Amino acid sequence: MAERETWATRTGFILAAVGSAVGLGNIWRFPFVTGEGGGAAFLLVYLLFILVVGFPAILVEFVVGRHTERNPVGALIELGGGAWKFIGAIFIMTGFAILSYYSVVAGWFIRYFVEGFRDSYASQLAGYEDIAAEAGEPSAAIMFGELSTGLDAFFFHTLFMALTIGIVALGIRRGIELAVKVMVPAIILLLVGMAVWAFTLPESGAGYSYYLSPDFAVIADNWVELLPAAAGQAFFTLSLGMGVMITYASYLGEDRNLSKDGATIIGFDTGIAFLTGLVVFPIFFSAGIQEPGDGGAGAIFVSMTEAFATVPGGHILGVLFFGTVAIAALSSAISLLEVVTAYVIDEKGVERWKAALGMGGVIYLLGVPVTYDLIFLDMLDGLVEGILLVFGATMLMILVGWIAPKFAVQELEKGIGDLGGLGTAWIWAVRVPLLLVLVVTLVLGVLGYYEFLTGTDPDQLYGWLQDQGYL
Ligand code: PFF
Repeated sequence: MAERETWATRTGFILAAVGSAVGLGNIWRFPFVTGEGGGAAFLLVYLLFILVVGFPAILVEFVVGRHTERNPVGALIELGGGAWKFIGAIFIMTGFAILSYYSVVAGWFIRYFVEGFRDSYASQLAGYEDIAAEAGEPSAAIMFGELSTGLDAFFFHTLFMALTIGIVALGIRRGIELAVKVMVPAIILLLVGMAVWAFTLPESGAGYSYYLSPDFAVIADNWVELLPAAAGQAFFTLSLGMGVMITYASYLGEDRNLSKDGATIIGFDTGIAFLTGLVVFPIFFSAGIQEPGDGGAGAIFVSMTEAFATVPGGHILGVLFFGTVAIAALSSAISLLEVVTAYVIDEKGVERWKAALGMGGVIYLLGVPVTYDLIFLDMLDGLVEGILLVFGATMLMILVGWIAPKFAVQELEKGIGDLGGLGTAWIWAVRVPLLLVLVVTLVLGVLGYYEFLTGTDPDQLYGWLQDQGYL
């Protein structure tokens, strides 16, 4: 990022930003956190969060990036002074943490993609039937259990990370723009097709009511868990709270209408997540899985293999689906490694390929324990979405809302024109209500994570250590 380039094409920025936003967050993470949050109750809080917090927050990252034309750490220092270097360091750390497990999950998608070439999903599942009957679980869940850890997972994590490092090291942006151009319509088409098919399933009605008709009493009773979970998912899926959007907007010309671009990115991202739910929940209920929250990290794999085992030509669809999601994951992973790499290039003057390889290598190692046991996935993911992203967003709101607010509205107006009262409304929304919501969310997130670390349940860290005989 030493010399300031701008985007190669007018749509380059949108494509890269959509490419970063649309990824495992939408297709892997969204359905299982929605399941854990009780379905429709979670969906409603999440959608509200996207609109009320996500949209103003993406604009904050955009104006910071375009105004300072710097990497996130440089941008924070320019606006807030030297002490903000530490907040910048947290951004970089967050990128490390996310990418480490993101790569393992992306590896699972490649694994399932390869599986589609080998044999039909139906015969794959048949191979797990005996164990499944014994355990009283669907074969697809047993298959996921087998593939998600161990040598398989390790190998595909290695492959995915090597691809990500290679692309970032070579700085191939054009290729990514093209990939995103193909990937986004492909994902939408596939999901729409699957959603239509899921509609025809016998128990689809139960799936829809679980996913779409919220019970307000559930929200009132569970807001302590729902709020941080929805916030974490919103930031994660929009790639907010760690500087990706700052970085991408830093290459942007002043003629772009930031609010229109923000709305486009959010529209695609939210649309794809919502569609995924329309596929997953009807399939779940039709496969007799009544507690979608129990699926955890395997939810999408279990529901999709069940589906691909049943539909005619399922393994072709499977290859297309898992393959496209792997590409979506790649464009997000690139944005993560790019932020970290660009920072090292900028601040330490290291060559691009060395920076990408060095940083990528450390991230890769950090991901290895996840391939051993999924407790490490919960550990990293919980830290990221419960604390780090919300913390990053909170600090940005403080910086832009209170410490250096002068440039913000002016910057937003470039490419749009005089915003009048709307500009003032935006900055005041950032200053008070949004900041308050974020602080409350952060406190809840920290408490939730503390519980994860200390709880005696084997799904929580302390309980897991006991279970393994370490304590
Ligand atoms: N937004 C990506 C997804 O939904 O898969 C994940 C992500 C990318 C999060 C980049 C954060 C980030 F900075």
